[in-house]
Amino acid sequence: MSNLESLLASLQKLEQDSQNEFQNLASITDLEAFRVSWLGKKGQLTMTLKEMGKLTPEERPKAGQEGNRIRQGLESKIAEIEKTFSNKELQNKIEAERIDVTLKGRERVSRKEHPVRTTYDELLRIFSKCGFECEIGPEVEHEFFNFDALNMPASHPARALQDTFYIKGSPDVVLRTHTSPVQIRTMLSQKPPIRMVAPGRVYRADYDATHSPMFHQIEGLFIDTDVQMGHLKGILSVMVKEFFKTELKVRLRPSFFPFTEPSAEIDIACPFCKGETQNPPCKTCKGTSWIEIGGCGMVDPEVFKAVEIDPHKYSGFAFGMGIERMTMLKYGVNDLRNYYEGDQNFISQFARWKP
Ligand code: PHE
Repeated sequence: MSNLESLLASLQKLEQDSQNEFQNLASITDLEAFRVSWLGKKGQLTMTLKEMGKLTPEERPKAGQEGNRIRQGLESKIAEIEKTFSNKELQNKIEAERIDVTLKGRERVSRKEHPVRTTYDELLRIFSKCGFECEIGPEVEHEFFNFDALNMPASHPARALQDTFYIKGSPDVVLRTHTSPVQIRTMLSQKPPIRMVAPGRVYRADYDATHSPMFHQIEGLFIDTDVQMGHLKGILSVMVKEFFKTELKVRLRPSFFPFTEPSAEIDIACPFCKGETQNPPCKTCKGTSWIEIGGCGMVDPEVFKAVEIDPHKYSGFAFGMGIERMTMLKYGVNDLRNYYEGDQNFISQFARWKP
């Protein structure tokens, strides 16, 4: 057999063998190994064609053509198989991620809104009708906003009265004890006139039937030229009338807060006995006819100084109210703890449907 004949015979065998091997390929990885072993630099076809060195120049083109034909055949077959494999892989992926759109949805545990949420919505609706904008502040607050800028420096006795939660390792960071720090944040980021309300959670280390370590407040702040206490009482009266859907007297009882001067407690006529004398005395107001719902006052000039607002040009009022207290008065719930136990029987008694 001449060198050419023997090389052509080897090529023929190689073609046959490689064709047979196609059947055993099961994945893209197999296919890649196949490509390397037959067509790679040290692959069988390349090695066989090295024999061409022994051929005469006239014989070489013949062997070369045959080699190319086999290479192209293998390459196109590889490309074809590759396509089938990747289609299959895509198909598998789609299959694995398939979602059954006919599957019945999971039933929600509660379809009732929490009464605290309902009260917030009501109050925000009322205040927004009066032109107040809603501001949100952080619950983890710096002492500067929670105390210092509100005229409560570390030496101030009022600071010790609030049972503050401090953050371990950061002695100047607290869980806010009231929503009043949002007053400071708003006055630092906006110029008067300001009309804002700030709803949110607040924290104090206290727990019994009338105190929870976490509760909710809404803060109000109104700053403009010539604001007086009459405006404060007017806004509070509108709020009370709209919220309780009935006319209830509002009384401002002299009090003290470091960040307002003068300061007052906000009392409303008891919504249960309406202040009418009763025998036996009303359980809610204990026969006093009045119920306290929050604190308020005219913004103290010291606070204006801390936020660089000119107290000669502007004046303003601020108020803060307890949301649980307002909710209790509207729905007649007397143990605060009911609000936080997540008992559906409690919530569904009076809560509205979630919108
Ligand atoms: N921040 C006060 C409190 O939590 C309430 C308050 C707000 C009083 C605004 C006056 C003005 O007790």
